[in-house]
Amino acid sequence: MDSLSSLWNAFNFMPEDQASTWAPAVDNLNALITNAAIFCTVAIVGTMLYFAVRYRRRSEDQEIAYIEHNTRLETVWTVIPSIICIFLFYFGFVTYHETRNPPANALEVNVTARKWAWTFQHSNGKTEESNLVVPLGQPVRLIMRSKDVLHSFFVPAMRIKEDVMSNMYTFTWFNPVKLGTFHIFCTEYCGKDHSAMLGSVKVVTSEEYADYLQDRGAVADTRSPAEIGKELYTNKGCNACHSLDGSRLVGPSFKSLVGSVRTFENGLPPQTADENYIRESILISQAKIVKTYPAGAMPAFEGLITDDEIEALIAFIKSQK
Ligand code: CUA
Repeated sequence: MDSLSSLWNAFNFMPEDQASTWAPAVDNLNALITNAAIFCTVAIVGTMLYFAVRYRRRSEDQEIAYIEHNTRLETVWTVIPSIICIFLFYFGFVTYHETRNPPANALEVNVTARKWAWTFQHSNGKTEESNLVVPLGQPVRLIMRSKDVLHSFFVPAMRIKEDVMSNMYTFTWFNPVKLGTFHIFCTEYCGKDHSAMLGSVKVVTSEEYADYLQDRGAVADTRSPAEIGKELYTNKGCNACHSLDGSRLVGPSFKSLVGSVRTFENGLPPQTADENYIRESILISQAKIVKTYPAGAMPAFEGLITDDEIEALIAFIKSQK
């Protein structure tokens, strides 16, 4: 039995730790695809070799039977692989769908990538480089952006990998089920120190996580992004056109904005308001005009606002439930 399991381990390329809820599903899917591929390879190549020997030409004047085609055989070799592919697609889609849709109660952490480090900011403003601390058993949604080039956030033990870009937010989420420290890699070549762009996910108990958040150290500004955003809401003049109580001013209210379905002028398809939608509406304010509101009322803030300020405003708008 021992030699069997060591043989298995030699062929198991997945990381040993299954530290998130869907790690088993990802591993099973991987094993299924790998085994299906091995089975098909052995069956096809084996049959091919057998036929090559069995039906080889035995003499110079041997007559070869003339075969046109065989409908039944062709149907079988089309239908069976199609069914296998549909099954693989189904299992893949179920897991993919799960990875795209975080639960509503997910904890949100902002991730910023740059050459060559990761920075993590929690909802109260607690910020740490390279080390992402999360509580056990709590779904965590990561809102990611890059300050420069394309990076990719990869935590093998959690089975998550997602590109990180400079012109939009990308998202991923996981539910950690194992205490401990797990590697973070950058898995998109991003320059000289790409290979050193490392970090760790530290899964702790919820008590330890609460303590971690409280310990802000010697930072100059202990406000949360939402509090900073509240100040920007007035300083940048958003308050002149966007109410917080749902009432209609020049522009749409910020109340219950995030997560709501927006409909637009100019026949653009409706969209659920997420971080990217708000970011776009600030930077390129004329891109999508909400139905019944005037075009051209809002200036574009491209070049007039920093990414950190946008993030603070998004946090503030999110807090207006
Ligand atoms: Cu960042 Cu490679």
